[in-house]
Amino acid sequence: MPRLVVISNRVAVPKARGVAGAQGGLAGALNAALKANGGIWFGWSGQETSDFTGSINYVRSADGVTTATIDLEPQDVEEYYNGYANSTLWPLFHYRIDLTKFEREFGKGYERVNERFADSALPLIEKEDQVWVHDYHLLPLAERLRSLGLTNKIGFFLHTPWPPTNLFVSLPYHERLVRAMLHYDLLGFQCDAWLESFLHYCWKELGATVDYQTGEIDLDGKKTIARAYPIGIDYEFFSSKIDTPEADAAQQRLIASTRNRTAMIGVDRLDYSKGLPERLDGISRFFDRHPSRVRDLVYIQIAPPSREDIGSYQDIRATLEQKAGQINGAQSDVDLVPVRYVNRGYSQEELVGFYRASKIGLVTPLRDGMNLVAKEYIAAQDPEDPGVLILSRFAGAAQQMDCGGEGALLINPHSADDLAHNINLALDMPLAERKTRYEKLIATVRDENVQRWTENFIADLSEIAR
Ligand code: F6P
Repeated sequence: MPRLVVISNRVAVPKARGVAGAQGGLAGALNAALKANGGIWFGWSGQETSDFTGSINYVRSADGVTTATIDLEPQDVEEYYNGYANSTLWPLFHYRIDLTKFEREFGKGYERVNERFADSALPLIEKEDQVWVHDYHLLPLAERLRSLGLTNKIGFFLHTPWPPTNLFVSLPYHERLVRAMLHYDLLGFQCDAWLESFLHYCWKELGATVDYQTGEIDLDGKKTIARAYPIGIDYEFFSSKIDTPEADAAQQRLIASTRNRTAMIGVDRLDYSKGLPERLDGISRFFDRHPSRVRDLVYIQIAPPSREDIGSYQDIRATLEQKAGQINGAQSDVDLVPVRYVNRGYSQEELVGFYRASKIGLVTPLRDGMNLVAKEYIAAQDPEDPGVLILSRFAGAAQQMDCGGEGALLINPHSADDLAHNINLALDMPLAERKTRYEKLIATVRDENVQRWTENFIADLSEIAR
């Protein structure tokens, strides 16, 4: 098996340098891939330096993964990370053209940092290595690496949605960006919907020949393969947390504090793509429609802040504080607070305990590449008394977790009525139906796990001839 070099914006750097490390599904997924194949994980340290030197900081972790990181200049962070990646591509890829910033300086910073990544990563890559690049921060990286003479196989995986062509063309130089992406040998997307949008763009805007069956894109004789690889969780690792004292303590803590009310939980980075204001509107609608049920339900929203230097993230935080306050103002009693809104993160063990104590899981993004919280919620459930997952039909996860209408309850996250109705269904769902749905869902979560995702992607990359 060739060695793997993973390149992504963030790296799960051990805390040695005082860096927090990556958050979210990407970190867990990539650690698992590197543990299986051996190799290097290269990216930004999360730290700033006044002068970019390209010098690399190496950390070898106990589980045999070497991380190699560079520091970036403040201007890089502003234009590339806060700018093009998170104020241009992120909103646009999540269909939020209203929040998308089109600033020339952001584009320049993005290209500069991609060049810096390529220059710094190149010496780390050995002849037989396979290179696997991740996410929207690094769309043009393969083109830069090729221009420096790298001939190794390079794959790319996009963790976010890919937007419909008529939204994507709003991006200045959209053709240049996608032509650069076609320097990858293999392009991976989370689900068929995002893959089809990408293939459609290549056909319509670039005039490429596209085979929807095989995913082959032929542009002037240069071939690239694009396919869907739905990411999963590290099921064994995650479920091994269930029997830990921390998970048990967290579960008991939530059960004790909610007494005989049903706990309903949402865990999301504080991001406008997650549909949190719309979710609170749906919960408010539920309480308005069923006043007698205010004492049946307590909602716990865990929302650790994210990308706090960006205005749209500051706005969403203010909106949520106001909405949570409004619901509690209207529905609370001296002995009752229906919405617990928490702006901090918890350990994986604690989350397992909270998920297990919660008989309803709410995952209602307006748009999401996949959403691993949906899968973790299911993995944490008690098979004898499982909870119900309410899932947005606009999350990539819906493709796998619908289970022919017998898995998650799929909703339109923009409709307060739809959410309110499904909360009511979930609260009353008989044990037998909860179990049937859970069994279908757990089979998917267990089998379509992160190891399979990695194996499938790497096997396809290995098969491609160069
Ligand atoms: O899933 C998209 C993503 O950008 C990941 O790449 C990242 O791990 C996560 O969201 C958290 O975002 P950030 O690195 O901007 O804090």
